[in-house]
Amino acid sequence: MAANAKFWDRLAKRYARSPVSNEAAYQTKLAKTQAYFTPDSRVLEFGCGTGSTAIVHAPLVGDYLATDISSKMLEIARGKAEGIGNLRFVQGVLEDVSAPEGGFDVVLGMSILHLLEDKEAAIAKVFDLLKPGGVFVSSTVCMERGGILKVILPIGRYFGFLPLVRFFAAGALEDSMKTAGFEIEHSWRPTPKSALFLVARKPA
Ligand SMILES: C[S@@+](CC[C@H](N)C(=O)[O-])C[C@H]1O[C@@H](n2cnc3c(N)ncnc32)[C@H](O)[C@@H]1O
Repeated sequence: MAANAKFWDRLAKRYARSPVSNEAAYQTKLAKTQAYFTPDSRVLEFGCGTGSTAIVHAPLVGDYLATDISSKMLEIARGKAEGIGNLRFVQGVLEDVSAPEGGFDVVLGMSILHLLEDKEAAIAKVFDLLKPGGVFVSSTVCMERGGILKVILPIGRYFGFLPLVRFFAAGALEDSMKTAGFEIEHSWRPTPKSALFLVARKPA
């Protein structure tokens, strides 16, 4: 975990400068997510990075907790979020998060599930953190085969210049959500190779 945090710390400034790869798809994901917000919503976003998504969403909800393992990512996020009173950035992993009384209304995991040791454990944790009827919004790189990346990534990870990346198909991710108890409400890939955007609901 520490090695992974160091990798993301080193990347933080470059990540903050890099443009969104598909702006139209990103805007669509923001809008689809916001359809689940109310002014009272209690929202958790884990793996929030430099906070760009949190900053857009927080003014629309009651309380927004954004977490990440990288202190450098959060440093940049806090700098960008000055003046947004209901937005808190906290360093840590998903396992550390406790639910508010009654549970979160919405949990976001954007570009993060494929970067975790154990996505099933993360999905189960999100299920526990949500209120009945709450939704888990995620966007995940789904690569079943990975090709040469499957060789390069472990080497790069060993030397500290690449992160942990897990390989799985979009269908497998949907199956993991269903196994945890979620109902898939919305599933969308802007192009066949794009990240899979999912809205999964915890039954009421
Ligand atoms: C690809 S970036 C995505 C950032 C942001 N969600 C976005 O969509 O731009 C992945 C982020 O997850 C964080 N991260 C990686 N592993 C993590 C873990 N186990 N727990 C929490 N955050 C993690 C990294 O520090 C990084 O900020």
